[in-house]
Amino acid sequence: MVKITFVEHDGSRTEVDAPVGQSLMRAATYGEVPGISADCGGNCACGTCRVYVPEQWRSCFANPSSSEKDMIDYWNDQTDGVRLACQTKVNEAMDGMILNLPEDQHY
Ligand code: FES
Repeated sequence: MVKITFVEHDGSRTEVDAPVGQSLMRAATYGEVPGISADCGGNCACGTCRVYVPEQWRSCFANPSSSEKDMIDYWNDQTDGVRLACQTKVNEAMDGMILNLPEDQHY
């Protein structure tokens, strides 16, 4: 298990205990993070699992696939460090990671 904190646009925070190997999106939804609705269930088809990864944590992520890039482009989200949580698995290097969430994912 690693601890990951999700920070909503309004500053509210949810800390989750995420099993290594689980989808980062699943860790967020099982942890009841309000700003990750993940409407497509992790099929890289909705973009409602976007997270903003601060620079110091980006090395925990593999390079995005072309389908992840396409979905991020669809949203035209120019924010630095934007990734789709459903396309990344939790790994041990993520322990203590803090991720920010887009304003349009604040429900
Ligand atoms: S859950 Fe739909 S793109 Fe990630």
